[in-house]
Amino acid sequence: MNLGYDRVLGDVMGDKSIIAALNKALAWELRAVAMYAHYSAYVSGIHRPHLSVYFSNEVNESITHASTVRSAIVKLDGKAITERAPEEIVHTHDYSIMLEEAYKTEKIASDVYHSILPMIEELGDDELYDSLEVIYFDEMRSVEELRMMLK
Ligand SMILES: [Fe+2]
Ligand SMILES: [Fe+2]
Repeated sequence: MNLGYDRVLGDVMGDKSIIAALNKALAWELRAVAMYAHYSAYVSGIHRPHLSVYFSNEVNESITHASTVRSAIVKLDGKAITERAPEEIVHTHDYSIMLEEAYKTEKIASDVYHSILPMIEELGDDELYDSLEVIYFDEMRSVEELRMMLK
């Protein structure tokens, strides 16, 4: 009968690491909100008109992603963090540095979601899996878009 107990314990441990991973994703979304809002305000030079809008759209997308991840944590009975990831947001007026920083951020975000998806798959919650896979594809699209912008 120990077998059953081990199984439950294993599931609980698994849940904890899923919550930790989702909180990491949430922290990076909150950082992305702060970073893109900052860059939207400070971007200078001839590219300001479209990059300011581009960064502003990324703020909105990150808010939507954060909301989805927060709902996932609530659904799994976890406690969602409220602090952003502490990694420095580089202050600059230079759009090329902003784009490089954005590329690094999107790459980390896509890696974080890539690591979360197998955990959610193991849970067997299709709705949760689908909602997080949509975010993962958004991040991959951003990585590719920024790669093209940096060429
Ligand atoms: Fe995101
Ligand atoms: Fe993103």
